[in-house]
Amino acid sequence: MKRIVRQLVLGLAGLLAGGIASAQLTTNDSKQEDKIRSLIRRMTLAEKVSLLHGNSKFYVSGIKRLGIPEWALSDGPHGVRAEINRHDWAYAGWTNDSATCFPPGTALAATWNPKLAYARGIVLGEEARFRKKDILLGPGINIIRSPLCGRNFEYMSEDPLLISKMAVAYIKGLQSKDVAVSVKHWLANNQETNRDAVDVHMSERALREIYLPGFKASVVEGGAYTVMAAYNKFRGDWCSENEYLDREILRKEFGFKGVLMTDWAAAHSTVKAALAGLDLEMGTDKKDYNEWYFADPLINAVKDGKVPVAIVDEKVANVLRVMITTKMLDDEKREKGKMNTPDHQQAAYNDAAEAAVLLQNNANLLPLDFKKIKSVAIIGDNATRRHCNGGLSSEIKSLYEITPLEAIQKKFGAAVKINFAQGYEKQSSFKEGNNAGQTSADKVDWKLIDEAVKVAKASEVVIVFGGLNHDFDTESFDKQNMDLPYGQDVLIREVAKANPNTVVVIIAGSPVKLSGIVQRVPAILWSWFGGMEAGNAVADLLSGKVNPSGKLPFTLPVSLDQSPAHALGNFPGRDLSVNYEEDILVGYRWFDTKKIVPQFPFGYGLSYTGFRIDNFSADKASYGKEETIHAKCTITNTGAREGAEVVQLYVSDPQCTVVRPEKELKAFDKIFLQPGETKTVELTVNVADLAFYDEGKKSWNVEPGDFVLHIGNSSRSISSSVKISVK
Ligand code: BGC
Repeated sequence: MKRIVRQLVLGLAGLLAGGIASAQLTTNDSKQEDKIRSLIRRMTLAEKVSLLHGNSKFYVSGIKRLGIPEWALSDGPHGVRAEINRHDWAYAGWTNDSATCFPPGTALAATWNPKLAYARGIVLGEEARFRKKDILLGPGINIIRSPLCGRNFEYMSEDPLLISKMAVAYIKGLQSKDVAVSVKHWLANNQETNRDAVDVHMSERALREIYLPGFKASVVEGGAYTVMAAYNKFRGDWCSENEYLDREILRKEFGFKGVLMTDWAAAHSTVKAALAGLDLEMGTDKKDYNEWYFADPLINAVKDGKVPVAIVDEKVANVLRVMITTKMLDDEKREKGKMNTPDHQQAAYNDAAEAAVLLQNNANLLPLDFKKIKSVAIIGDNATRRHCNGGLSSEIKSLYEITPLEAIQKKFGAAVKINFAQGYEKQSSFKEGNNAGQTSADKVDWKLIDEAVKVAKASEVVIVFGGLNHDFDTESFDKQNMDLPYGQDVLIREVAKANPNTVVVIIAGSPVKLSGIVQRVPAILWSWFGGMEAGNAVADLLSGKVNPSGKLPFTLPVSLDQSPAHALGNFPGRDLSVNYEEDILVGYRWFDTKKIVPQFPFGYGLSYTGFRIDNFSADKASYGKEETIHAKCTITNTGAREGAEVVQLYVSDPQCTVVRPEKELKAFDKIFLQPGETKTVELTVNVADLAFYDEGKKSWNVEPGDFVLHIGNSSRSISSSVKISVK
């Protein structure tokens, strides 16, 4: 109960604070712009350029005589990374840089609760400030295009609206603490294979409808202070020097007034990048920082007349604008931050608790009543494995991380006999840039299985903790397949034969194949990488103290070949080039349009209670193009436990001159309900948001005619639909 109350309080705080938002980056503040101009006037060319490139792994020089401090950057998206040596990648060995570790991106998105994203932003901002960081590199918001992308776990979803809602809340929370975000990776880092060479091609429509909206929302609504250019090329040009992306779209269309930085070692030129709008070069692999593209070569390019000094001034102004907005030049007034508070840990717990997705629960095996159970078998490497310190740049030196076994022992061990068996062994190993470690990862270890079967037979209930680890879900390479590694299918099959009361908990940050187990076990809970509070959250979910309310932020295919990029054979591309032929049909847009039945659909997730959606209506039958649709429904908790349901509004355009997805998510809300309680839910959709991107007209187009609004609790579970028309 205490937890629930606290959760409510935090939620309310987020809601209230949501209105406060962070200071906006603006060029309309004439005093600020005067200050920027006056500072620039007093700088030598060398001083200006010193602000535009790293002076170490994560710092940028300041200009002491002008009161401009050094700029401190840090990873990452779900916790403040431990301190790294200034001039190499080894950890600095500090003793005070252990941090709060949140569940990564897909888990956050699975909560479908932007208030939690806001609350996370606050915590990250406070911890970043405590560590005296000025920019925290995240959130990672690339579209989950393939189940195999190594960084899917850091990213959020296959759906641009879900990404946008979560990212905007995260950014507002974080930047309200005087820390800049760096929204990454701009753009189309949808695979790790050849990420630093691949040339990504997609239609203008796919760009506009699928790949840009998260970034646009982050900049325009979220007010992101910095953006990080991806490693890959886009339509032939590196993202860090891509005139179309960086100048035309980011600056001109989105009105971005902040800093565009490179990913680490993603710069490839001086003049081209400077003219295209890059501001800050980070991570280049040259020992002498003066040799970096945006160091001496930039000074020389100005002297040679190849880069106008006004372009350098524009970049310096962007840097200063972010510094001023985050109060770097006004330290007295700046947020001081705090670290590892109970509230921070509570926020990490809340995310893990709300993220878990109940995929299957036959005969209501879950929740388990640990007061009645005498013995439980806990099986699987993931019952005891800690994950916060993996994944590469997003790894966290977590203050602590509670494993599932530890939590179950602590919470129930006094009354229930816990029989542990390893079940399978982690056979892989991680080496940056080399996924050879995965190849031997599917051996069936009968000795471990026999032990597990023995333990399963001797226990009333079995919980298998399986899934992946950060040898698979990691920056730097992609998974080779979607399989559950290390012979887990066989292990689970044998254990379930020995004891039908088997629950499987999947710990993973990206889609894995469940077709080998769904028919064999009654209950499956997907609990993601759960951050520092992973074990506590999963134990509370299994015991029913917390009712699962997470929803899949991506489609879970039966097999890889169902998935669009793989069905069309264009992942990871050929000859260092990839063409997104599936176009706008990414994720459920593909599955629903092509009528392919996935294992579990986008937006799906069960609860220990039941919900009913009724009375769906729109406020009018016909709308003008400038109008807003106000849709309404009621939602009732039909069961005996409190719980939360995510009401999802999808829209179809049945008749259109271009192919449109069968349906697209246009609004959602997570509703918390007591047993028997009914609430009215109001969802709004701007008619303008029903548009498709018209390549012929080079603009958004809402064709007049009928549209259908659907209300439901997954892309494939629609309770009711209403037709509206647009004039
Ligand atoms: C990653 C970025 C990260 C940077 C700094 C790069 O390899 O792609 O996401 O922020 O390293 O660690």
